[in-house]
Amino acid sequence: MALNIIALESSCDETSASIIQDGKVLSNTILSQSVHEIYGGVVPELASRAHQQHIISVVDKALEEAGISIDELSAIAFTQGPGLLGSLLVGISFAKGLSIAKDIPLISVNHMQAHILAHFIEDPKPDFPFLCLTISGGHTQLVLVSNYLDMKVLGETRDDAVGEAFDKIGKMLGFPYPSGYLIDEHAKTGDPGKFKFPSTSVPGYNYSFSGIKTAVLYFLRDKLKTDDLFIEKNLSDLCASIQHTLIKMLMEKLILCAKENNIKEIAIAGGVAANSGIRDHLIGLSEHYDWKTYIPKLEYCTDNAAMIGIAGYYRFLEGALCDLTVIPNARLKF
Ligand code: KG4
Ligand code: ZN
Repeated sequence: MALNIIALESSCDETSASIIQDGKVLSNTILSQSVHEIYGGVVPELASRAHQQHIISVVDKALEEAGISIDELSAIAFTQGPGLLGSLLVGISFAKGLSIAKDIPLISVNHMQAHILAHFIEDPKPDFPFLCLTISGGHTQLVLVSNYLDMKVLGETRDDAVGEAFDKIGKMLGFPYPSGYLIDEHAKTGDPGKFKFPSTSVPGYNYSFSGIKTAVLYFLRDKLKTDDLFIEKNLSDLCASIQHTLIKMLMEKLILCAKENNIKEIAIAGGVAANSGIRDHLIGLSEHYDWKTYIPKLEYCTDNAAMIGIAGYYRFLEGALCDLTVIPNARLKF
């Protein structure tokens, strides 16, 4: 009989469900909550309410697209953390209810590990050990991945995540939330050398993105004093210059970490890995350093339940299940 895992993702503002059959994705239903756009960021209370409102229809759609009935499910994987507590509670409570009703086991999944394991949804898959730069709205980490369950954070941000920097700077430029994608689009037609912003360097393989955010804020404030239309007139060049600085900061530590740990298998993961500038830059670096690079499909970069399902599948194979006493952990570590 086939091993059918249903996976649930509800850590932030995407309500998602996926069916994984013997390690293959049969469906991946994602509902992105639009309610936050006008607030310039995710409003936790609204996010949990929206998850509660939509989770049943999202699960129904995932089952329907996979052609699987609820009675054919073998196990339930869900995001335990990190994420917003109220949002995580919706997914975990749903998973527990289904586990009791259908008498099937539960598998708790770390959202950040799942972003990395999204590389095992499709070919080509990285060889162990590999280095993964995980870049999202909440995290920026350099992770040494030795196995499906064995991962070590070698470096991370000391303050803002790089996605947060994209979104906060985007807000200053007048974009709605989340604005990473919009900065990316405008950057394509801009001059990355037009404006210079400082790139902060911190010890080890760590990052800091709060400095560039403040630098852009003061830069725009000064320019707007003498020209109200400065942003509109220079939007593409501003986006290209800011994105260029962020990419430079990300890549400097990635190169250092890869060299010092003698690793040539390099992956990127997380929502910011959807950035076309980062993807192009990485391809250039792979030629220069003779790296083998792995970039997930866009659909598997931003939050989705298929990555939770694939992480759950490997945990299931290792017998790493959990019981009904499991609770969400907003700051879950590896
Ligand atoms: O992984 P993700 O979907 O959610 C979290 O776990 O945080 O990442 C969301 C982040 C947001 O900050 C969003 O602006 C950013 O990914 N993002 C991008 C792009 N697409 C999404 N940032 C830069 N360029 C993009 N094309
Ligand atoms: Zn994420």
